[in-house]
Amino acid sequence: MLTIVGSGKVGSSIALQAGMREVDSSILLLDIVKGLPQGEAMDINHTLAEQGKDTLVRGSNDYADMKGSDVVVIVAGVGRKPGMTRMDLLNTNAGIVRDVARKVAEYARGSIVVTVTNPLDPMTYITLKATNFKANRVMGMGNLLDLSRFKSFIAEELRVSRHSIHALVIGEHGENMLPLVRYSSIAGIPLTQLITAEKARELVERTRRVAAEVIALKGATIYAPANAVAEMLDAITKDRRDVMPVCAYPDGKYGVRDVCIGVPAIIGRDGVEEIIEVELSDEEKVVFDNGVKAVREAVRSVEI
Ligand code: 2OP
Repeated sequence: MLTIVGSGKVGSSIALQAGMREVDSSILLLDIVKGLPQGEAMDINHTLAEQGKDTLVRGSNDYADMKGSDVVVIVAGVGRKPGMTRMDLLNTNAGIVRDVARKVAEYARGSIVVTVTNPLDPMTYITLKATNFKANRVMGMGNLLDLSRFKSFIAEELRVSRHSIHALVIGEHGENMLPLVRYSSIAGIPLTQLITAEKARELVERTRRVAAEVIALKGATIYAPANAVAEMLDAITKDRRDVMPVCAYPDGKYGVRDVCIGVPAIIGRDGVEEIIEVELSDEEKVVFDNGVKAVREAVRSVEI
């Protein structure tokens, strides 16, 4: 069973996209707002029925219903509003995520947890500490979303199919995001051979800023985050051992301890099966380390 805690626009979109991919035969949408998860579940079930998908979605206001979950997604909390950075949500969302994580530890001890609430890296760390789960069983979705944006810009720039692009974004899902041009390619051809350094810098900057643009235009980002979560869920429940960037606990890799940050990892049935350490240039390392520092300062400033 897959449980999604938080049934707002992103939470319900995750349920729909996870249902369309049949990541699990049973999805529970949880929310404290009466009626909301139940109504969303009905609407999604009607969609899935027409599509011939047998995933059954239920709505509930009772945390006890998450008992027996294999995977829990935490998307509870408030979203980023126009003009805000992700870090501006820290104080409001820290308490919400900590309380939800404690409920997960109480009712779904054997689950793998995917945190989505912003600021993503501090919230993933709070989830890890508040559940007291093993580090491989807690991860956050941030860089896969950044990657989807980076890929869209590369495809647009080179006028090639999005399908041909392999790329990588790691680091903080925030101001110190690190799209890695050196580790990006078009059908194996290094991106560095196909665009100028100046153009690459432009694509990196757009990738860092574009969420704020979407939020200014429509008030929130919904489909792309939900898709990235569904992709991670698919890798976990189908034990695909996909390599993708996720927010995880590096435990000494990248020289990082006691913080969660975006890194490439193998994702499968046991969650973060392995973190892959790639070599970073001095310039890339500065950005990565600035992200680590920002996340560390954020988690120190809140009560877990
Ligand atoms: C995003 O990048 C707001 O973190 C969210 O879409």
